[in-house]
Amino acid sequence: MAETNSKTLKVLFVASEALPFASTGGLADVIGSLPPILKREGVDARVIIPYYSMFKQKNLPEISFMFDFRVQLAWRDQYCGIFTAEHNGVTFYFVDNDYYFKRMSLYGSYDDGERYAFFSKAVLDVLPKLENNEGFFPDIIHTNDWQTALVGIYLKQVYRKVDFRYRPIRVVHSIHNIEYQGVFDHCILGDVFDLDQEYASIVDYNGAINLTKGAVVCCDRLTTVSPTYANQIKTPAYASGLHYIINQYAFKTVGIINGIDQDYYDPSRDPDIVKTYKTVSGKAKNKAALQEELHLPVNPNTPMISMITRLTSHKGVDLVVAVIEELLQEDVQFVLLGTGDVGFEAFFKRLASNYPEKVRAMIKYDKALSKKIYAAADLFLMPSKSEPCGLAQMIASRYGAIPLVRETGGLYDTIRYYDEETGEGNGFTFANYNAHDMLFTVRKALTLYREQPERWNALADVCMKKNFSWDIPAKEYLALYEEIINLD
Ligand code: GLC
Repeated sequence: MAETNSKTLKVLFVASEALPFASTGGLADVIGSLPPILKREGVDARVIIPYYSMFKQKNLPEISFMFDFRVQLAWRDQYCGIFTAEHNGVTFYFVDNDYYFKRMSLYGSYDDGERYAFFSKAVLDVLPKLENNEGFFPDIIHTNDWQTALVGIYLKQVYRKVDFRYRPIRVVHSIHNIEYQGVFDHCILGDVFDLDQEYASIVDYNGAINLTKGAVVCCDRLTTVSPTYANQIKTPAYASGLHYIINQYAFKTVGIINGIDQDYYDPSRDPDIVKTYKTVSGKAKNKAALQEELHLPVNPNTPMISMITRLTSHKGVDLVVAVIEELLQEDVQFVLLGTGDVGFEAFFKRLASNYPEKVRAMIKYDKALSKKIYAAADLFLMPSKSEPCGLAQMIASRYGAIPLVRETGGLYDTIRYYDEETGEGNGFTFANYNAHDMLFTVRKALTLYREQPERWNALADVCMKKNFSWDIPAKEYLALYEEIINLD
């Protein structure tokens, strides 16, 4: 049991999304899967996220109303409802306000700064009420990405100065992707973020308000989602301008690799795939079914290369755009799922219509379809320019789709080159951000697939068995929490 002064350690995860309730990417996977593992380690881990309209999906745990109160944000006086649900043994809280969170999409509104400032204040304001209602008051608040950065800033700069109950709380902030920093014009410091001018220096960076910078300054520990990325964000090439700050606070920064939920991503009992399987030989039926569903030629011997990704340049989509037509001269199928930059979306739609026998591009976010693709694909392409951790390469691995990745961030920490001599390694990798280096590596992989199918299958089986669980990372978080709990 995780205990502090013979009490159970209480950790509140604050995030803008969490599976199974609301998800646009890897952050939701992490927030949905790490707390249950910590719970098993004896931590009282709970989660709080906004109550978005996208919750109206089927098959969610029952959500019930707890209470409501008002939140003051500068001159605003806003309703705040608190709802709750249990999932995988973890208590979730939801911050409800129709005006802020009943929108068509999670992010991208003109007033995202105000929406997440409201959420951050609501999180701090609800704590004494949760203590009264449920006996839960966190020792640690674990915030994630810029949307929750203000929690740590308000806590350390404002709340703990006016209310002694907030004083012992420690803050861990995790950067899941440093490219999204929460940058705003100075004029909203007081009017929206409700911070006096005296706090400007905390959030000021490069002539604007930068909430990630504020979170880095105010947190007790800064984490990011892989050891390699933790080093990379000290450099200008990876930090999107924030390397000065990351270097200044390197003493409190640590990289902890993400795990995946190996129960949810389990081809031996996944209800979303056509045929469950335990070894790579079981993939054939899933491949044939997907080829049929997508109206591609049903051929077990044609290698299926897949990508499931946000269509943005940091995911390495430029490299694919540069050489895909060369690759399509060979006998391959290319299946892509994802949304993102309109230019890339248009490119892949056009590609699919130009190569109807070889290419399918599904421009959407679809969890169930993604699992069918992992189960069907032979090779999974992830040539990211930068990758804080990356979950898709681990999920693909679990489904026996051999990952082919660029050696960066968490991809470097999770996938090692397959060495034909020794049989070691668990995928294919290339180092330089260069389209022909990638193409060369894809061709090497395809040669193995065509010429040495037994070796290919052995490698796929190695991938399927590789342990990408949360067991070790969860222990690292636990050690980190315990280390800071007694800080003065
Ligand atoms: C972000 C990152 C991704 C990481 C995920 C979860 O989506 O881009 O690399 O795996 O967050 O931490």
